[in-house]
Amino acid sequence: MRVSKSIITGGAGFIGSNLADHLVRIGHKVVVLDNFVSGKKSNISHHNKKKVKLFKIDISKSKKLEKYFRGADYVFHLAALAQIIPSIKNPKKYFMNNVKGTLNVLEAAKKEKIKKFIYAASSSCYGNPKKFPTSEKDKIDLKHPYAVTKFMGEELVMKYATVYKMPNISFRFFNVYGPRLSTSGQYSAVIGKFLSQTKSKKALTIVGDGKQTRDFIHVDDLANAFIKVIKSKLVNKIYNLGSGKSTSINTIAKIFKGKRRHIAIRPGEPRTSLANITKLKKDINWKPKISIQSGIKNLLDC
Ligand SMILES: NC(=O)c1ccc[n+]([C@@H]2O[C@H](COP(=O)([O-])OP(=O)(O)OC[C@H]3O[C@@H](n4cnc5c(N)ncnc54)[C@H](O)[C@@H]3O)[C@@H](O)[C@H]2O)c1
Repeated sequence: MRVSKSIITGGAGFIGSNLADHLVRIGHKVVVLDNFVSGKKSNISHHNKKKVKLFKIDISKSKKLEKYFRGADYVFHLAALAQIIPSIKNPKKYFMNNVKGTLNVLEAAKKEKIKKFIYAASSSCYGNPKKFPTSEKDKIDLKHPYAVTKFMGEELVMKYATVYKMPNISFRFFNVYGPRLSTSGQYSAVIGKFLSQTKSKKALTIVGDGKQTRDFIHVDDLANAFIKVIKSKLVNKIYNLGSGKSTSINTIAKIFKGKRRHIAIRPGEPRTSLANITKLKKDINWKPKISIQSGIKNLLDC
């Protein structure tokens, strides 16, 4: 039987490298395209080079992208600059990287007979939503350049699905966590930050009063949804990808059990975030399985 070939742009990053593990487990050959702006070689160095091939490529600049896509069955486009505050400081860089990068990847994939193209969109497209849980039909409210670039990428992906009949799916990720979540940097996600603070015995920094909530989804649940969707006949769809549960930052801090220190709130961050995942659950018969308590305990045990 022919082995499936999957391309992961941004495959040396947090989500991409976990996805690579899952795809290798189901027998795919994986090609990772990454420029290591935030990803690390060490995230995928545990794989046999015959199963996971790594190429240092900038998807927004490379003129030779097409050659990596030859014979591809599945494309997972995850490469992006992925932080809010730096996007406010440098919108042009975010636009070139995330929007032009997505266009280049779509053009390279368009020439191949791929079975599915998956795009990593973001729940940041809902801004400060009014309705909870927030569904795919709710209002788009782009609060910062990061959200704009991710949403423009999604628009391109969906246009390529209708105009060029590409088998495209866009997933709007909520707050993803799990192994290899970045623990460094000023703007790392809350669970990554709490992990590094716990390991270095520092107080957990809580933004504002800590009563704000987020929808945290474990990266293994996310990868399982990807795998179910590539096996399905679904195309030209947009799905929320979250746990469907909201957890406050104070609750997360309680699971970590550390001392706490409150810091100033940051612009553009919503008070509440909660995904309506009914559409995805119904279409692929999937549901998230990892509770936030066990997901964090596993991270602490690593
Ligand atoms: N982590 C989350 O909670 C979350 C939420 C919503 C959306 N997303 C999206 O999911 C995707 C993956 O996020 P992540 O958390 O794994 O972030 P990450 O920073 O760990 O991964 C992004 C990867 O893309 C690579 N990359 C960036 N620009 C590139 C370029 N021009 N060429 C080649 N490689 C490039 C980076 O080096 C990195 O390996 C991103 O598109 C992000 O916008 C993530």
